[in-house]
Amino acid sequence: MNASSIDLARTVMQRIDALAKISDDPHGLTRTFCSPAMRRANGFVASWMREAGMEVRTDAIGNLIGHYPAKSKIENRKSKILILGSHLDTVRNAGTFDGPLGVLVAIACVQQLHVRKIHAPFEIEVLGFADEEGVRYQRTYLGSRVLAGTFDLKDLKRLDPDGISMAKAIRAFGGNPSALRNAKLDPKRLLGYVEVHIEQGPVLEKKNLSVGVVSAITGQTRMRITFTGCAGHAGTTPMNLRRDALCAAAEFISTAESLARRRNEADSGLVATVGQIAALPGASNVIPGKVTLSLDIRHAKDSVRRQAVTTLKQRASEITRQRKLKLSAEVVHESRAVECDKRVSRLLAKAAMTHQRRVPILPSGAGHDAAAMAVITPVAMLFVRCKGGISHHPDESVSEKDVRVSISVMNNFIQLLAQNA
Ligand code: HGY
Ligand code: MN
Ligand code: MN
Repeated sequence: MNASSIDLARTVMQRIDALAKISDDPHGLTRTFCSPAMRRANGFVASWMREAGMEVRTDAIGNLIGHYPAKSKIENRKSKILILGSHLDTVRNAGTFDGPLGVLVAIACVQQLHVRKIHAPFEIEVLGFADEEGVRYQRTYLGSRVLAGTFDLKDLKRLDPDGISMAKAIRAFGGNPSALRNAKLDPKRLLGYVEVHIEQGPVLEKKNLSVGVVSAITGQTRMRITFTGCAGHAGTTPMNLRRDALCAAAEFISTAESLARRRNEADSGLVATVGQIAALPGASNVIPGKVTLSLDIRHAKDSVRRQAVTTLKQRASEITRQRKLKLSAEVVHESRAVECDKRVSRLLAKAAMTHQRRVPILPSGAGHDAAAMAVITPVAMLFVRCKGGISHHPDESVSEKDVRVSISVMNNFIQLLAQNA
């Protein structure tokens, strides 16, 4: 390992800490699509991209793009493009590595080339995607869908919790909703997309290994489910006359949990999560008349996930029928499971072999921009060990040593790709 990768790893850790302070929420790290914090974060990352010898632009939806020319570009020939990167948005009260680690490791790799005045026989573009988590508009992969050409223009009408449409948010950020269509990348020019990301799980730590290569990215369905009953007086309404929406929701939530637990024993991998719930009118002495909750269902096989969605919709209707309530259940987001590209993944594993004898190949239970980019180009992912597998939590953490390994692996990968270009 050369000295500069040690400095670069230190620099990545410092930049992770700098981005951790850029939040829309004073009480924790929350940085959402087209928000003021996202604008500030893009400013910092753009300066780091420039320092690494990249030209920087922001596209129509707010993706930040650093461009490092190829050797041939200097001789004015159109060359292929390798895309690296990850997302710069976060969940609420997030950890500091989910997303930014992939962007900063990619910048560190280009910086190493720049310092040595090396240009690959292909261009490199480093992406800081505008929205992967889908926190603001309940739609994930907004930035990567635009590049892949799969962005659904109807989503521009979606409203955030403050009633601001996505189109308005994009314009206010300096983007251009009517230019999203032509922000799509040309698949013929792409070599592939490779994303470095924390594992967000316990496997690498259990194996005491720094990195692993991802085999596939799980599919996910996100739903919004509303139980409507009748609000009433908590003191005077007899139990048998109630149409309590929160009790119906509670029965549904434990049904979803036991279905996923049962399926886990059977074929492992089905997960069901209710992350958000709102009970109205929300007073302690009033029987809840209306409850809306989110449901997140995932599995590596789309057929298993879709079957679980059907089963849970049926259970929700049975519960509402028995309790004389009304039900509405809508799918707000669905993304299918995606296999990573075997050839690019083999090259990535080969690059990792120079640092660890065994390179685990493991599935991702989390979604990633690579799932959206797979529509347009071969994708591969390098997972980096994270402490206790903790993620989507302030305790999320990665060691500087493992960051150093990931930078070296990605440098080796770029060299291998250049030899095979
Ligand atoms: O929710 C996820 O799987 C990812 O963190 N977007
Ligand atoms: Mn995440
Ligand atoms: Mn992520």
